[in-house]
Amino acid sequence: MRQRLIVGNWKMNLLQAEALAFVDELESAGAVSGDGVEVVICPPYTALAALGGRGLRSITLGAQNCHARQKGAFTGEISAEMLTDAGCRYVILGHSERRRDQHETDVEIGNKANHALHSGLRPIICLGEQLEERQSGRTHEVINRQIDGIIGSAGAQVMSQAVVAYEPVWAIGTGLAATAEQAQEVHSSIREHLIKHGVSGTVPLLYGGSVTGGNAADLFACADIDGALVGGASLKAPEFAVIVQHARDVR
Ligand code: 13P
Repeated sequence: MRQRLIVGNWKMNLLQAEALAFVDELESAGAVSGDGVEVVICPPYTALAALGGRGLRSITLGAQNCHARQKGAFTGEISAEMLTDAGCRYVILGHSERRRDQHETDVEIGNKANHALHSGLRPIICLGEQLEERQSGRTHEVINRQIDGIIGSAGAQVMSQAVVAYEPVWAIGTGLAATAEQAQEVHSSIREHLIKHGVSGTVPLLYGGSVTGGNAADLFACADIDGALVGGASLKAPEFAVIVQHARDVR
């Protein structure tokens, strides 16, 4: 049985007081872990520190990035050890916004994953193709190349303990989610490719990209979709609660 997760990526949103109020709202709306589903929230660092200090029990904390080294002269960076110290258990790595804006490569993402895991953080590794890559029939080639690069630096053992998120870039923040069929097709190919590398077949595979309360149930009904990485809808407590409930309803 594979683990199921619903992960909220808040990106660069919410001040500390807003984050604390938001988590209260999530808890009272029932958007919490249970029925085999773990609920993870990945706030910006400042809100993360505020939430970590509060000692949440029914929601797990994650970060949105970390550095590949433990400490040193890296102005503006944060280490996996610091995130663990602040109460984090997960870290999102290789989000397409960081690949685009910080030019992160698969090798760097693999190095970060390796370091994160050894510092007590479980990596949530993001993969995904651009619109033109999909339109030219290169989705599988692009995703497999990303997997090969990350495993090349992190190793299959690290990947076996990670979570993988398929986030087609064209679906992020556009309101144009992949259909359940499109997502399932890529997820099953990701699983097959991971297994070819000697990675465990039980790695949870999350779908991300315009997940809403309206499309979550169809996505979660797919054989190889073990949850979601949610952006915009994770900032709306009632809608996030609906997504969590759909995940908890899957048997
Ligand atoms: P949206 O859910 O806003 O499309 O964002 C997805 C995402 O980037 C999660 O990491």
